[in-house]
Amino acid sequence: MRDVIIACDFKNKEGLMSFLSKMGDEKPYLKIGMELFYREGAPLVKELKESGYKIFLDLKLHDIPNTVYKAMRNLGELGVDITNVHAAGGVEMIRMAKKGLEEGAIGKNRPLLIAVTVLTSLNDEILKDELKINLSSKETVDAYADNALKAGLDGVVCSPYEAKAMAEKGLISVTPGIRLEGDAVGDQKRVATPTFAREQGATFIVVGRSITDAENPLEVYRKCKKDFLGA
Ligand code: C5P
Repeated sequence: MRDVIIACDFKNKEGLMSFLSKMGDEKPYLKIGMELFYREGAPLVKELKESGYKIFLDLKLHDIPNTVYKAMRNLGELGVDITNVHAAGGVEMIRMAKKGLEEGAIGKNRPLLIAVTVLTSLNDEILKDELKINLSSKETVDAYADNALKAGLDGVVCSPYEAKAMAEKGLISVTPGIRLEGDAVGDQKRVATPTFAREQGATFIVVGRSITDAENPLEVYRKCKKDFLGA
């Protein structure tokens, strides 16, 4: 199951296709987020699946349980491989998300369902002052991960620094914030290398700009795979 997922933060299909044309005969696991999905929608996801790509559809659903259930039924039908919700939506919402995926994916493998715990753009101060949460971000991540587990989720999005703790709870981890030595950090706060993520027991790493902005993306992708999978 372990793999390197490329974050495809492109404006449109042309941008994505131009990038994929540089990947030789590799068929990487792709993360499609809101930017690309809200422009190109389900047809792009179906086309990529038919071409043999694995897809993590990163839409971070967060709504009332019934709405999330119906939305997840549609995503289950799309045949994506991983999708996600905000753990802040509560245990019942997460349960209904899973039910929707199971019903939508009849005859196919159910997509893995993972949860975003606390966004990495939030810190203890914002949690306390704006969201009125009096726990530290670490304690909140821990509590939300326990809720996710209670609701039958497969795993969480977290930094490689938390992957070990999540594995101890029996959760898979999908870890962004990956940089190769010498790369620009950009807007990421806590970065780690693919090797460190492997050592911490991360299940998947998500790598965006380090690959997509590289002069030779194929070479960097292969290096990430080698370092993370040890292959
Ligand atoms: O370019 P970079 O490698 O920083 O991209 C990381 C990807 O992972 C982006 O698509 C970003 O939105 C996503 N992500 C993240 N941190 C989170 C959740 C998602 O960087 N906590």
